[in-house]
Amino acid sequence: MDFKSFLLPWYRQNKRDLPWRRTTDPYLIWVAEIILQQTRVAQGVGYYERFINEFPTVFDLATAQEDRVLKVWQGLGYYTRARNLQKAAKRIVERYNGELPSSYNELLTVEGIGSYSAGAIASFAFKQVVPAIDGNVYRVMARVFGIFSSPYTSKGKQEFYELVMELIDRNQPDVFNQALLDFGALQCTPLAPMCGNCPFREYCYAFRNNVISSLPVKQKKNAPRERYFNYVMIAFGYDTFIIKRKEKDIWLSLYEFPLIETDKMVDEEAVYNLLGWKSIFKGVSVKVKHVSPIVKHVLSHQTIYARFFLVELDKITSFVKKNFIQIPKSELDSYSTPVLIDSYLAAEPAAMYFFKSHKPAPEG
Ligand code: ADE
Repeated sequence: MDFKSFLLPWYRQNKRDLPWRRTTDPYLIWVAEIILQQTRVAQGVGYYERFINEFPTVFDLATAQEDRVLKVWQGLGYYTRARNLQKAAKRIVERYNGELPSSYNELLTVEGIGSYSAGAIASFAFKQVVPAIDGNVYRVMARVFGIFSSPYTSKGKQEFYELVMELIDRNQPDVFNQALLDFGALQCTPLAPMCGNCPFREYCYAFRNNVISSLPVKQKKNAPRERYFNYVMIAFGYDTFIIKRKEKDIWLSLYEFPLIETDKMVDEEAVYNLLGWKSIFKGVSVKVKHVSPIVKHVLSHQTIYARFFLVELDKITSFVKKNFIQIPKSELDSYSTPVLIDSYLAAEPAAMYFFKSHKPAPEG
């Protein structure tokens, strides 16, 4: 079977009109691919347009304030990608005068560009004959050709790479790679592939042997780490306090409310006796106005159980630690905050109460 002579006609009929396909600017393609690593195409389009509007060239991105980049990225999650993207943009300005390298191997040396993105940029922008293999491509290849090697091992990856390298259309590697992505996303979908009208129906190993749901082989999962976050939303007149995350951990450089983390679920009452709570509120009287139910937030390798304490203070003394930033509550919106906090604030009626200003903060 000549794979591409089935794939390409399918693509002509079914291709999606996507904004990053109307350009060969490697910077724009790069941005799109980084966004699409973590987001479905339908949602990615809006973020892509917002991002390139704000940072139309690699120079704009390289010179932007990190906080601004994170703000534009807000909602996409995986903020390390945004930070790496900017770090890489700076390197490309310094080392390559703002021009992304055009070869797959050189692209691989850039921070945050792995084999998939290198393949996508090299083929879409420079028409280099290299595969761009993401989850869609693993799925199509594993099913059509009956490959039981794991895409999560380097040996397996190598096998898929060599197979796509044999099949790729050497005259139009860009079209071929895009076609494979769309075929995986639209036809050969993870859960309910549309085998009924599939051009590979007669040849597909998985279809003929009824093993569609076993291919591609899955990754063995470690249990996600569980964490327990107690956030303190302090209403201090018109103001509140936030902290910028500094540790090498999730959400680096994002802003959040003062946090007391525990390693197991603790009762609300027990929180008031934790050292973390006492050290924030040493010597002042706090009124706890509202305590949220536990909010569960699932990240790729962690599950966070969060609870929000809305407290009112009429005096601050020693609790204002050096890293607490006092801001008007109404300005919270202009800081990038984790999705967990955003969605909590959007959904919680008591948060509206929090944002209503009552009175100016008393003198210190
Ligand atoms: N998924 C990841 N990259 C993509 C692209 N360039 N087009 C469509 N889907 C994608």
